[in-house]
Amino acid sequence: MTNEIIEQIPECVRFNDEDAQALLRNKDVLLALEDGLVEGFYNAVYSYSVTRAVFTDDERAAREQTLREWYRRTLNGPFDDAYWKWQTFVGLVHIKRKVNNAMVSGMWGWILTYLSENALEHLDKTEAKAVIKALHGLQAAVMALISESYLRNMFIAVDKASGIKEALLMRLVNIEIDGMLEDARSDSAL
Ligand code: HEM
Repeated sequence: MTNEIIEQIPECVRFNDEDAQALLRNKDVLLALEDGLVEGFYNAVYSYSVTRAVFTDDERAAREQTLREWYRRTLNGPFDDAYWKWQTFVGLVHIKRKVNNAMVSGMWGWILTYLSENALEHLDKTEAKAVIKALHGLQAAVMALISESYLRNMFIAVDKASGIKEALLMRLVNIEIDGMLEDARSDSAL
């Protein structure tokens, strides 16, 4: 499923070997940003009531450690099947804990801004541009895996529990969407 999802991303913009090399080549500079990344990330999610509510009271140190390990594993490579499969697994772990795609996507935005600003400050322009492109490609691939695998697993679960196949479910959903589109088109606010 992992490869199938990644292959939906146009090849010319998909995270590739060149991107992997850009991250690996600059990993010393990027790894030096780990403390700031982890602190800033968790300050953000702990200072907002909706994301704060995800965590139990004694969890912060353990969560910071998992983010550190994710960051180190990412920057040390390799970006192989095991890595992409792990990102899909992390997505499922989040869903179990009611961490939704809005939260993850928002925090990816924060990570990209933090690392991009620092790349521009600490690297020469060419390397900074390569690192920023690689980070955006990585984020796109990970978010694609998380969101698409969730949807596909949901189709499998619905089929298992009710016998309703993906094709039938999609037909039903499309009928409802047609109605929603009609309502939206007649909504003067749009
Ligand atoms: C770029 C975004 C994120 C990354 C890279 C990330 C990374 C990770 C990783 C690697 C794990 C460990 C999974 C495992 O192997 O068991 C994890 C667990 C967890 N993350 Fe995230 N995370 C992100 C966003 C978030 C956000 C936005 C929240 C909450 C608002 C969150 C809350 C949690 C929680 C509660 C767990 C523990 C799950 C459990 O084991 O019970 N994460 N995350």
